[in-house]
Amino acid sequence: MNKPVKIQAADAAAEVAATPLEKLNPAKVDSFYNDTIWPVFEPLRREDPVHYTPDSEYGPYWSVTKWNDIMAVDTNHEAFSSADGIALANLADQEKAEAALRALGQEPRRGGGAGFITMDEPEHAVGRKAVSPTVAPANIQTMMPVVRERAGQILDSLPIGKEFDWVDLVSKELTAMTLASLFDFPFENRRKLTWWSDMVMNQPGHGPVESWEQKGMAMFECFGTFEQMWNERLNGPPANDLISMMAQNPATRTMSRETYHGNVILLIVGGNDTTRNTISGSVFQLNKNPDQYAKLRANPDLILPMVSETIRYQTPLAYMSRTALRDVELAGKTIKKGDKVAMWYISGNRDETMIERPNAYIIDRERPRQHLSFGFGIHRCVGNRVAEMQLTIIWEEILKRFPEIKVVGAPVLNWSSFVHGFESLPVVIPYRN
Ligand code: HEM
Repeated sequence: MNKPVKIQAADAAAEVAATPLEKLNPAKVDSFYNDTIWPVFEPLRREDPVHYTPDSEYGPYWSVTKWNDIMAVDTNHEAFSSADGIALANLADQEKAEAALRALGQEPRRGGGAGFITMDEPEHAVGRKAVSPTVAPANIQTMMPVVRERAGQILDSLPIGKEFDWVDLVSKELTAMTLASLFDFPFENRRKLTWWSDMVMNQPGHGPVESWEQKGMAMFECFGTFEQMWNERLNGPPANDLISMMAQNPATRTMSRETYHGNVILLIVGGNDTTRNTISGSVFQLNKNPDQYAKLRANPDLILPMVSETIRYQTPLAYMSRTALRDVELAGKTIKKGDKVAMWYISGNRDETMIERPNAYIIDRERPRQHLSFGFGIHRCVGNRVAEMQLTIIWEEILKRFPEIKVVGAPVLNWSSFVHGFESLPVVIPYRN
């Protein structure tokens, strides 16, 4: 199913121009897989910034594509709920996934069930508060040496002068390594975290997923492992890992098994695809923009702004969706109670009224953290500082070792309109310092 990406931007632009606005379906996966989404969002921002798609594989839904309107939805949690899910569900896939779960004796739950990201207040705040200290500045400081040491080990094991897949050997490895540190998960089994995340996020035929049954079984295995970790840590010594914190905090130690499992999935997925695709995106964009790569090499102080610019430019989660709890007016349109709304961060990050030269990748922008990629409001990414920390350390360690990482072929992009990233990226490291 995975085939090399074919960039057909001109064809896509012509097709969009010939399509009546009301027929535009920005969540169509093909456009993400083929990197032909930009000609869809540009006319929408200009002509129909709050756009309704009446009929699609996800059912009817709204697309909000401009910065200020995205902010208006994301910061209005009283009118826009997360409890019915934060990604548009492909209706046919949803039915197949539910049938597979029933066959395994599990009762599927629609929409929610992905931890506190799919909860509204007051439940959301309880879950968020329990994990927040793990990802707060003090704990991040204590994690830094181990992240640096493990990043160094991974980078030192890379082949020199030989082609390899950057996504597999670096982006996935480094992300799994940090996540294993956050969970205090056995380091030697860290790629299990990557595998579970890929099993959750992919459909059969994509990534490692072969069938809906296999997806269900993978979740069983994941929950079994984390159940054991919970039991071991529940009455263990106080510790700074995410599982001990949830198990020992009086506000969360009585949470239902379903809620715990949802939180585990949230943390595995939240910290996985996102950071992984920023690592891949940075190498890809620095290669496409050699002047920016040269600037970075000449001035390592630009690492942190480069990380932020990549997070904006890549937008690892293309959107988050909400369900309207009442009728809401937005940009002259009426979003009706019960309607689904996708906030397209990936489009807001290219909104020319907010970002100067938004389609250019510029690593020394004046305000590099001005982007929508972490969301806003009560669900703003709780791991944003951890993500920036690990990405900065990784690049510090890369620059110490490798003057250049060369992209030597076309990437394969993800089969998803939610996770915006790379399935594979062929590179060569010509030599090391
Ligand atoms: C570049 C990396 C990352 C990006 C782009 C990203 C993006 C996001 C976005 C868009 C949201 C939802 C915001 C909203 O609805 O307003 C979110 C929430 C969340 N993220 Fe991240 N994330 C990243 C890294 C991480 C990491 C490393 C972790 C784990 C340590 C993490 C854990 C979470 C959690 C737990 C939530 C739910 C917060 C809540 O509902 O209160 N993320 N993230």
